[in-house]
Amino acid sequence: MLFRQLFDAESCTYTYLMADLDVREAILVDPVKKQVARDFKLLTELDLSLRYCLETHVHGDHITGATQLRAATGCLVIVPNHALVSFAERHIDRYIDHGEVVTLGDITVEALATPGHTNSHMAYLVNGDGDSFDWPARVLSGDALLIRGCGRTDLQSGDAGKLYDSVTQQLFTLPDYTEVYPGHDYRGHSVSTISEEKQWNPRFAGRSRSEFIEFMQQLDLPDPKKTMEAAPVNQQGVNQQNGRSIVTV
Ligand SMILES: [Fe+2]
Repeated sequence: MLFRQLFDAESCTYTYLMADLDVREAILVDPVKKQVARDFKLLTELDLSLRYCLETHVHGDHITGATQLRAATGCLVIVPNHALVSFAERHIDRYIDHGEVVTLGDITVEALATPGHTNSHMAYLVNGDGDSFDWPARVLSGDALLIRGCGRTDLQSGDAGKLYDSVTQQLFTLPDYTEVYPGHDYRGHSVSTISEEKQWNPRFAGRSRSEFIEFMQQLDLPDPKKTMEAAPVNQQGVNQQNGRSIVTV
């Protein structure tokens, strides 16, 4: 299995490339529109066919690259159920619910409903039965769980209580050795483990549900740079930039 973590410096977003090297097919999770050329070039250089683009949620801080990658490669776009309004539906190939699995060769990707940052957010558990150094279980935690942090809950359809339940009941119940790969990082981290986050994540360690809700409410965060642009585009599916209608997810 090939596993790559790719970074967009403007939005501090991680995109994940996973591929089965026997069948030479790949999955991209949370591609960024501005990085489509980079991702397409890498796929070409590695001689990989893109089969699926998965989204963890409707992003508020960057525009997805899934639609452009779909047009360029014929890949299937898969998004969490209930993530989108109706008129973008013709650009979505499949909705995914909690517990559903996408398979590609030896790779299994299981959706874990983790609402709270948005109401339809999914984390993806990759090879959840893996327990060796060569084949570790990984969770792509999206914006539900960041390394020593978590996604904000004051925008879009955020709900701090739901996020606390998602992290403590869906993610912190995974085996301790499960590697955590977040959707963003702003401090230079790239990977953590469930064990580490249970012990050292300051938003959750030692905090009750009500204490977490109170903490999130007093954060008073500024709007992210691209929220006004990205959230409506990603949710509704139309980008009017450059005088063209580009449907995104
Ligand atoms: Fe987000």
